[in-house]
Amino acid sequence: MCSIIGYSGDEGAAPIIVKGLRRMEYRGYDSVGVATESENKIELKKGVGKVSEVNSKVNLENLPGTTGIGHTRWATHGKVTSVNAHPHPSSSGKIAIVHNGIIENFEKLKNDLGEEGFEFQSETDSEVIANLLQKNYEIDKNVKNAMIKTVSELEGHYSFIAMFENGQLAAARFHEPLIIGMGEKNYFLSSDVLGFIEQTDNAIYIDNGNLVLIDQDKIQILDFNGNQIKPQITKVSKEFADVYKGDYAHFTLKEISEQPETIFSAGENTKEAIGECSDYLKHAKNIYLTGSGTSYNASLVAKYLFSKYAKIKAEPIIASEVQFSPDSIEANSIIIAISQSGESADVLEAVDIAKKADCKIISIINSLTSTLARESDIVIGMNCGPEIGVAATKSFTSQIIILYKIIQEISNEKVEIDFQEMSTSISKILEEHNNIKKIANNIKEISDIYVLGRGIHYPIAIESALKIKELTYIHAEGIAGGELKHGPLALMDASVFVIIINPDDSTYQDTLTSTREIKARGAKIIGISDKNTDSYDYWIKIPKANELAYPILETIPIQLLSYYAALEKDTDPDYPRNLAKSVTVK
Ligand code: AGP
Repeated sequence: MCSIIGYSGDEGAAPIIVKGLRRMEYRGYDSVGVATESENKIELKKGVGKVSEVNSKVNLENLPGTTGIGHTRWATHGKVTSVNAHPHPSSSGKIAIVHNGIIENFEKLKNDLGEEGFEFQSETDSEVIANLLQKNYEIDKNVKNAMIKTVSELEGHYSFIAMFENGQLAAARFHEPLIIGMGEKNYFLSSDVLGFIEQTDNAIYIDNGNLVLIDQDKIQILDFNGNQIKPQITKVSKEFADVYKGDYAHFTLKEISEQPETIFSAGENTKEAIGECSDYLKHAKNIYLTGSGTSYNASLVAKYLFSKYAKIKAEPIIASEVQFSPDSIEANSIIIAISQSGESADVLEAVDIAKKADCKIISIINSLTSTLARESDIVIGMNCGPEIGVAATKSFTSQIIILYKIIQEISNEKVEIDFQEMSTSISKILEEHNNIKKIANNIKEISDIYVLGRGIHYPIAIESALKIKELTYIHAEGIAGGELKHGPLALMDASVFVIIINPDDSTYQDTLTSTREIKARGAKIIGISDKNTDSYDYWIKIPKANELAYPILETIPIQLLSYYAALEKDTDPDYPRNLAKSVTVK
């Protein structure tokens, strides 16, 4: 989604803001802008493109002043244009705002303000905040009163930062993240700790329904009625500062390559939590799993594990669907929410519904300071380090490892997993990148790819198709092997590629039969297996393993294949078009 940042201190604001925006760019990246205040005047620059592109065109960094705000956009209302990019000034130019979220009643507010003579330049919902604030500020020239009145008139989900021409900053949080960074002589406001982590690791996580007022060296936190809130300063883990690509061409490749190590660290920062949640799970009336995208796909793997190894029924529900079937969450149950960011709006809403039904919330999260972490009864950390590439890679395998660890705790039988062997096998697959690169070159012109798997490999097929779509923009679909003859076989001809996930386990023979049926229709076959057959046009070898290691091992080559195909197609693997890392709007 969009990222917002504000700075007030004793150094030049613009270069600090640009640096923060670069680090948060993964959240949204279609356009960017910065506004600063100097000598009671607001100046503003913005443009379409990534931070570095816009900066080299308009030199965002040379705006004057020691107070400023900045924004990277992921368009929701209005096209990707320079005018629609933030910051948005009010009609008078005396206030500028940056906003993340959606203002649901913007049309009415825009009409009303228009009738009162306020002018609008953009197609965005956000611009109403600037003009509404201006209107309310003109009543008594009091920032606090203007903010309280403005938030009482806004509907939707938002966090925004406003800069007034006297250099005061004000911000509001309502269902979108907002964090204060407390430096020695400076304050930051940001939607992500990455916006300021290089400057300070002292943070205040602003609660929902709170305001922040910063006037030079004075900071106040208030609720939406104006009552003072006592700030609680938290130390942010320094690992979040570690967001450099190093020698890797892209974050995505770096993150794929980190998996021989991240499978060891998964859950290790919250060891007791795994034991604690197993007590809940063993006695639960119902267990639901929820998440979005890749994290939801992990919950499909979990369903299989819970039933096969723990003889427990667990129902996965796509997070965004929970609101449309709230009765499917029975009271006093357990919901396991899986989310890398812990900020996905759909997941937070699902959890909110579950909490209202008195369910216990167990979450599997990478960002332990996220909103989801604070909403949960038990938090298990993925502990895989920051994941910047928009396509989830190492977080997915960490989620699966944590689910394995939970299964080990709750199963009556001993569930053996050799993590050392798994790690060595991942490294071997990564070494095979040249073979995968060649195959990537062959799929770059293809318009449809299908991924087929059975049993526990079916959710991996779904996740693989998601990775191919996101990174290569090629249409891809996961197919349950047995479903082939019930429909998808009609799609098979010489124009398509099919990736067959076929390790040598109980699914092997049936999947081999499916492979032959597909081959007979002329489709090209990429086999991912520890066993070669003459049915494969291309074979990606994975080491022999036990059933629980295969889902991890077969995921890695498809991540690599998607990455290399993205390079072949000249798309940016770290920042796929139209997507954002952290989807904080519904
Ligand atoms: C994964 O590659 C996607 N970028 C996306 O589906 C992602 O998994 C989803 O938005 C959920 O994010 P979360 O794990 O941070 O909640």
